[in-house]
Amino acid sequence: MKSAEIRKRFLAYFQKRGHTAVPSSGLVPKNDPTLLFTNAGMVQFKGVFLSEETRDYTKAVSCQKCVRAGGKHNDLENVGVTARHHTFFEMLGNFSFGEYFKKDAIRYAWDFLINEVNLPVDRLWVTVFENDDEAAIIWKRETGIPENRIVRLGAKDNFWSMGDVGPCGPCSEIIIDQGPGAGCGRAGCAVGCDCDRFLEIWNLVFMQFNRSASGSVTPLPRPCIDTGMGLERLSAVLQGKLTNYDSDLFTPIIEAIEDLTAVKYAGGQNPLDVSIRAVADHARAITFLITDGVLPSNEGRGYVLRRI
Ligand code: SER
Repeated sequence: MKSAEIRKRFLAYFQKRGHTAVPSSGLVPKNDPTLLFTNAGMVQFKGVFLSEETRDYTKAVSCQKCVRAGGKHNDLENVGVTARHHTFFEMLGNFSFGEYFKKDAIRYAWDFLINEVNLPVDRLWVTVFENDDEAAIIWKRETGIPENRIVRLGAKDNFWSMGDVGPCGPCSEIIIDQGPGAGCGRAGCAVGCDCDRFLEIWNLVFMQFNRSASGSVTPLPRPCIDTGMGLERLSAVLQGKLTNYDSDLFTPIIEAIEDLTAVKYAGGQNPLDVSIRAVADHARAITFLITDGVLPSNEGRGYVLRRI
């Protein structure tokens, strides 16, 4: 399935279920000095989660352009080295502002992956925050996933925060096992390993708290849902590729790099492939950043752009 089709299907799936399709916001968050760049689909809804702002909808779906370079979520050093990290990527997400919570978020995600894009159910795993019994029970009851494929992990993996301050909460990830060939081969390799075998495709955040500048965490007025799935990862999986760089989102860019440099890309077999992947990633990031008004400079956003 082509990435353009996946984007369309995702938006349509949630629109059919009463979600308003909201266009991506820009990469520079408006009126938010706490963030360098829009790093997730939820950023444009921060005020709605905090009940500081209302919209004329309570459920939304989007495909958000994101940059994770600089700040709390920074993937710059992993780019090209892993099969799955980017500075710039598109995040598919559905959101509930006090409307539905864990049960429906889990049901929608599972239904979309199994029935809409036909992922093989026996290769899927899920993670929940270590003490989130409720989420574990819902996964088992609503999807029938065997208990031994529900893994409990700590805050590093299963508690999501947008930054040092702002909305946050426990989360639950859907993971696809890409097989031993995609992994590190170490004895302890399992869900939670940093390698590319157990690939996180979707993160469901049960947004429940707000973290203040002093570090204190207070409950949100209403529990909300914020989910995020990387379009690049899902595209690679659905196109039978083990790296995002072999998906249709990257191949035209890599071909252009081959033309310009007269270096052949060898799908990861060649030491230069890491650089080719990094150039492909960075070309997308700088293009979108400059288009959104950031210019290279010596400080702040412009400095991160210059580094990229
Ligand atoms: N905000 C969460 C994330 O970025 C889910 O969208 O993973």
